Amino acid sequence: MSQLQKKFEKNGYVIVPGNKILLNKIRKIIFNNIKKNNKIKTKDDAEKNITTILNNFHKFITLKKLNNLRFDIYKKINAGSIFSEIYYEIAREYLDELVGNELAMQKKINLSIQLPKDKDSLLDLHSDIYAGESPFQVVVWIPLVDVYNTKSMFITSPKFNKKMNSDLLNGDKYTAKKMYAKNIKKFKFLNMKFGEILIFSPLILHGNTINSTRESRFSLNCRFKSLLSPYDVLVKSHRNIPNFYKPLNIKPMTKIGLNYIKKNLNVK
Ligand SMILES: [Fe+2]
Repeated sequence: MSQLQKKFEKNGYVIVPGNKILLNKIRKIIFNNIKKNNKIKTKDDAEKNITTILNNFHKFITLKKLNNLRFDIYKKINAGSIFSEIYYEIAREYLDELVGNELAMQKKINLSIQLPKDKDSLLDLHSDIYAGESPFQVVVWIPLVDVYNTKSMFITSPKFNKKMNSDLLNGDKYTAKKMYAKNIKKFKFLNMKFGEILIFSPLILHGNTINSTRESRFSLNCRFKSLLSPYDVLVKSHRNIPNFYKPLNIKPMTKIGLNYIKKNLNVK
């Protein structure tokens, strides 16, 4: 096993350097959309200026308008395939090691914007499995600004996960909020610089709280799983191809095998 694989199995996540040129490219796409949408007048597209405007974005927008803006950018980045191709490229070498190179990629990349003190963009403690997600997938989480403390997301470790998860699922003794409050020491907010990417198993409990820093957070997330790993395995949630994922890098033998099954077993 490689160091990366060992680390991932031990911690449930890895923070690794991403390709800075490509990261700057996707950040610029988001920034240009924000500029247009919010009528921010700046001609300075230098990295430093983009960082300052994103970190201070709460000074440029009201909470009321935030969701429309977020949704508008979400639609734009997911309209063609360019954004998604760059996104995959940023994480490709790590996904090769952790998941495989014949993949299913989530069709839509999500954008989160968390302004300071905003109570409406919270994701309480959860495992993605609760929403019918696949246990075979990883999330690639990309912050577009430096993140730390409550500007970031928190995660626990595999060694604490099993017990908390089963307490949450069996019985109604704990709400997610209570579980987090009771076990706060078992969670840590991830400290990351723009330029780094997080790859984590969303089975490991994670979430966020009110951003009580003085900076806004922009982050992207997208899920990947091995193309031939099972779909809809725990519940029927339409987390399959073509509803939720798209295939990447289908190899000839996979095509041949799938075609054979289709022909001979009358599988649709
Ligand atoms: Fe999640």
